[in-house]
Amino acid sequence: MSGSDGKDVLQQIRSTMPPVVSDDWPNLPAKEAEGPWLITDEGRVADMMGGFATVNVGHCHPEVMSAAYEQMQRIVHAPVGVVSTRPQREMAARLTEVLPEPMDMVWMGNSGSEAVEAALKVARRSTGRSSFISFYGSFHGRTMGATSVTASKSAYRAGYAPLIPGVEFVPYPYCFRCPWGEKRPGCDFRCVKAVEEKLARVLPPAETAGIIVEPVQGEGGFIPAPDEFLQGLRELCDRHGILLIFDEIQTGFGRTGSMFAFRTTGVTPDIVCLAKAIASGFPLSAIGASSDLLGDWPVGSHGSTYGGNSVACAAGLATLRELEAQDLPGRAARLGEQLGDRLSDWPARYEAVGDVRGVGLMWGIEYVDVDGEPDGQKAQQVLQGALEQGFLHYGAGEAGQVVRITPPLNISSELLFESVQVLENLTQKLSG
Ligand SMILES: Cc1ncc(COP(=O)(O)O)c(C=O)c1O
Repeated sequence: MSGSDGKDVLQQIRSTMPPVVSDDWPNLPAKEAEGPWLITDEGRVADMMGGFATVNVGHCHPEVMSAAYEQMQRIVHAPVGVVSTRPQREMAARLTEVLPEPMDMVWMGNSGSEAVEAALKVARRSTGRSSFISFYGSFHGRTMGATSVTASKSAYRAGYAPLIPGVEFVPYPYCFRCPWGEKRPGCDFRCVKAVEEKLARVLPPAETAGIIVEPVQGEGGFIPAPDEFLQGLRELCDRHGILLIFDEIQTGFGRTGSMFAFRTTGVTPDIVCLAKAIASGFPLSAIGASSDLLGDWPVGSHGSTYGGNSVACAAGLATLRELEAQDLPGRAARLGEQLGDRLSDWPARYEAVGDVRGVGLMWGIEYVDVDGEPDGQKAQQVLQGALEQGFLHYGAGEAGQVVRITPPLNISSELLFESVQVLENLTQKLSG
């Protein structure tokens, strides 16, 4: 594939970037993007992965672009705490408005990993405890602390030891492959009991600072956690003075049909980590928590040169305005229901499909082999076939067995269901 300069893209990338980037798939040479579209020299491709769930209002949304451009003409770099700009102040205030009580403070960084890192530090500092519980299948980022609480693929950890000590993993409620062989409804949530057991046998509660969890696992395979599981974690945290940290980096800002996934679960975490869709692709992230937790975080004990960048904050404010003005969370909920209806009988109809699951516009299709084991090759064939027909999806899951569907929340239903038809045709072929 050649880029807009006519040169071979992979050759160019491989000569200057390590395989950690250049061997990824598909290195699509885009020169522009608009709404759901990525524009290449050969035509346009529908971004059905929404830039990894980042462009919830679509690529290069005009309101977001003009807010950022206007801010660029005023001031770009204002190291927060030393120089204060209006977008920084307003973005912090808006975030505390969209977050529920008692989350009345935010700290802003640049990336999701940085938000997770901040959450882990706050948890250790404020509890005076050092250990964490995280989950198999979790993905929290690439920095050392975030990698230490990540267990979606051992490849993400390989070669980086020693990671931070004191992290223990327990099974996530991956109900399709329940490690205890239970079925919902009617199971007795052994996944909650496993956490309880970890605290009873391995990690003394008095040494456990936090439990970190994605309300819907993304990278791990697009797996929504049952509300009862999250409620069980809340109860355990309350009982033992442990902080509950929700990583809403992928699920936040309308993706799951409400502004934050936790809003429909009956559970409020102590700390929430936000990034990705927060500013439509401008680098911005945040943690939200109560002033009880953040109010005595002493100056100098944490920071970030670009964190809360003014241009990113201006883009974030415009993104929030658009999400609310168009009720994009509500739209995600409605389209997500239709999508769920459309996909629900695939496991019965196609032997290549083991499970379909999701919420809002965050859905995954899990491909399996004849023994029902995860089949990453089939998923990859579907991804490649869809791309050849102009739809960019991406894989997820430990073996890459899940095809993810996370388009912009304002995608037309015609385009969404056109892409689903493409996936279905490819799936039908695979199923023989
Ligand atoms: C749930 C979750 N947490 C954390 C991260 C890390 O975010 P970033 O890549 O911005 O550091 C990601 C990125 O995919 C994510 O999906």
